[in-house]
This record gives sequence, structure tokens and C-alpha cells, in this order.
Amino acid sequence: MSVATVMAIDDDPGITALFKRFLQPAGFKLCECHHALNAEAKIEEALPDVVLVDLYMPEVSGFELIERFHERWPDLPLIAISGTDKVADVVRAMRVGAWNFIEKPILDFDAITDILRVAISRARKIREKIRAEEYLHQQKENLEHLVAERSAALVKTNRELQETIKKLQQSQSQMVQQEKLASIGNLAAGIAHELNTPVGFVFSNFHSMKDYILKFRSLIEKYRDFHGRLVGVDGVPVAEREALAKLEESLQLDFILEDLDELFAESEDGFERITSIVTKLREFSRVDQRDETSLYCLNKAIDTTLVVARNEYKYDAEVRTVLDPKLPEVYCHVGQINQVILNIIVNAAQAIKEQERQGFGVIEIETGATRECVWCRIKDDGPGIKPEHLNKIFEPFFTTKPPGRGTGLGLNISYDIIVNKHQGELIVDSEYGQGTEFTIQLPRCQVV
Ligand SMILES: Nc1ncnc2c1ncn2[C@@H]1O[C@H](COP(=O)(O)OP(=O)(O)OP(=O)(O)O)[C@@H](O)[C@H]1O
Ligand SMILES: [Mg+2]
Repeated sequence: MSVATVMAIDDDPGITALFKRFLQPAGFKLCECHHALNAEAKIEEALPDVVLVDLYMPEVSGFELIERFHERWPDLPLIAISGTDKVADVVRAMRVGAWNFIEKPILDFDAITDILRVAISRARKIREKIRAEEYLHQQKENLEHLVAERSAALVKTNRELQETIKKLQQSQSQMVQQEKLASIGNLAAGIAHELNTPVGFVFSNFHSMKDYILKFRSLIEKYRDFHGRLVGVDGVPVAEREALAKLEESLQLDFILEDLDELFAESEDGFERITSIVTKLREFSRVDQRDETSLYCLNKAIDTTLVVARNEYKYDAEVRTVLDPKLPEVYCHVGQINQVILNIIVNAAQAIKEQERQGFGVIEIETGATRECVWCRIKDDGPGIKPEHLNKIFEPFFTTKPPGRGTGLGLNISYDIIVNKHQGELIVDSEYGQGTEFTIQLPRCQVV
């Protein structure tokens, strides 16, 4: 065991010499200090294990020293040397930081060495405890640091997972929607194709028939004229002429001949409508160029989409269009833009239908342009969207429709098409109980 160092601070050299005499044989090393003002520097230099402080010295009082040293080195044992037997001094010294006290005159050396040993051992224990506490504190900090690091890593992983889930949902949503788009497109294209051939030959036959019938009509008119001129001519059998006149009358020949023109006109109008529907169905699907962008007019998109969506709205809503006749064309994916307009119109129609109202609802479609963009507003007077749903409607799979009726992908994919694929904007404005308005904005002169 190393030798313990004792510092004795006392202005009386006799006392310190006495300490030296009996402490050195007892295994202590003694440092003497006779000037209280030097004491602090001496402690710093000698690093004693225990310090003896006389309470009454001329330069500075021992109480003051004890208080200062205790504050600076709380684990340094300070033993007061009290020349008096005043209990009050002892109590005061202990209060300001003394660990123990030794009474002058110094008589019982063994008792003093015991006091010193106990103080040193206590100080060691305190230091060990402090070290252990410091160690524990350090470990705790390390642990907390580690936990914080791991938590941050977990949070990061969790965020990445969420991102991945979102991306997966997005791509799933896109796949489903593309599938949907393709099937609607294919369906429309298929119907258009199927109709085209029979409509073609029916139309061609109709023209031939019209030609024949007009020929018959002019012939009949000639016969009738001739027949009229036979009245009263000798040799013409009266009974047969009258029978012919009766037959004409019963067949309503006059009416038929007159009605023919109207029938032809109506049928031609019908053929034109069928041809226009077939053309619009083909336009809507654009099967041949679904992946390409081209200059396209939003008015046309509305026109064609209304044909495809007609069955969805015709029993519940009236569609009113105010289309800007000078609307500029924009570069876009035609099939995708048609799909967005279809989604929004079908949503409006379904929302109105779900109200089960008495009369028809109204879907207003308007187009226009600014210097930067062309826009299309689709407004319905349906039930509106609840405020708490408004910020969710563009999320994938958000739907308020019963299972099997809505997948909750329509607006999500529409947003993706307009905002991400065309750098445009898709804005919703809805008041619950009043109706909903969607605005599509597509930048002008943008090649996507
Ligand atoms: N015009 C509207 N009026 C009222 N609510 C609407 C309207 N448009 C959309 N919504 C609400 O937004 C939800 C999400 O619409 P979205 O088109 O994304 O999905 P969906 O119509 O439910 O299903 P999907 O289009 O995939 O068949 C709808 O379920 C509905 O609650
Ligand atoms: Mg929808």
C-alpha cells in the first residue's frame, strides 16, 4: 500500500513538528504548511490524502479554509484542529465541511492516527463510489446514445418501409388502372370495329335502296299520270281502273310517296350519328397511339368521353357544356387525358345517382385557356365531399363506395396523369351538401 500523505496547516511550527514526530513512524508522510495563505497552492502541489487545519490562525481563519477547500475538493478529508474545547467551534467546523476534529493539546497519538486512517479510507470509498457512479453514468450515456442511434435507424427503416409500401401501392394502382384503361379502350375499339362493318354495308345498301325507291317513285308517278289521263277513254275497262284506284287508296300510296323523303332524311341523320359515335369510340381508345403524345384539343376529349360515359349519366344527370371554340390544342397522351375526364364524369354521375333525388342532377363542363394553360372544369350539383375526406380522395384505394362498386383508384391515377405525367394541376373544390368541382389544368406548349 502506498504511503498516505498528511498535510498539516498550522501557524505553530511546534504543532506540525509534533505531528511529524508521531505520524512518520506510523507510516504517514507529513507536509507542513505554516501560512494559511499558501495552503491552497500547497495542496495543489502535494495532493495530500488528508488535511489537518488549525481553526485559529492569524492570516485566515481555519473555518474559512475548510469551507473553501470543501467546496473545491469535496472528497478531500479535512480534519479541524481545535485548540479549544468549545463545542460551538467543532459544530461550526463540521458545518462548513470538516470531516472530524482533533483536540489540542495533542495527547492520544493512536486516536489521531485512527482518525486519519478512517478519514482516508472513507475518502477512498467515496472516490471509488464517485468513479463507479461516473462509470455508470458513462455507460448509461453510451446506452442512451446507442438506443437513440438504433431508434433513429429504426425510424429511418420504418420511413423507408412506408415509402416502399406507398410506391408498391402506387404501382399496383397504376397497373390496375392501366389494365382498366386498356380494357375500356379495347372495349371501345372493339365495339367501334364490330359496328363499323355492318354499319358500312347497311349504309351502302340503304343508299342503293333509296336510289331504287326513288326510281320506283318516279315510275309510279308516271303510271299514275298516265292512268289519270285514261279516264273516259273508250275501251279502257272501268271496273279494273276503279279497282286500281281503290288499291292505291287502301295502300295510302299518296302518304307513302310523300313520307319517303322524311324517312330518307331521318335515316341519313341516324347513320351520321352512328358513324359519329363509332368515330368517337375510336378516338377515345386511340388504340394505335396510346403511348404517344400528340396535339389534342380538350373539347374533343370531352366530346368523345361523353359518348363513352353516356350510359353512366343519362338516367340521372343532364350534361351542359360550355366549350371554348378557340381552345388551343396541347401536347398530351390522348388516351390518358380521356381516362381522367371519364373518371371525373363517372364520379359526378355516381355521386348524383347515390342521392336518389327526384329530378335530374346537373353536370356542367366548361373549357377555357389562359396564357399558361388550358383548363377544363367539371362541376356537379351532387352531395359534395365531406371536409374530412377532401385530403384523402387522391390517395390510392380511398373510396366511400360499397365494395365492388369503387376501387378508390380513379382520382389517384388521374392525379398521377395530370400532375406527374403532364406537369399540370388537378384541383378539387367541394362543399359538402352543395356539390363538387374538379379543375384540370394542362400547361400550353409542353411536349411530354
Ligand atoms: N364528384 C364527386 N362527388 C362526391 N364525392 C366524390 C366525387 N368524386 C370523388 N368523390 C369521392 O372520392 C372518392 C374517391 O374517388 P375515386 O374516383 O378515386 O374512387 P372511386 O370512384 O371510389 O372508385 P373507382 O374510381 O376506382 O372506381 C369516392 O369514393 C368519393 O367518395
Ligand atoms: Mg371514381
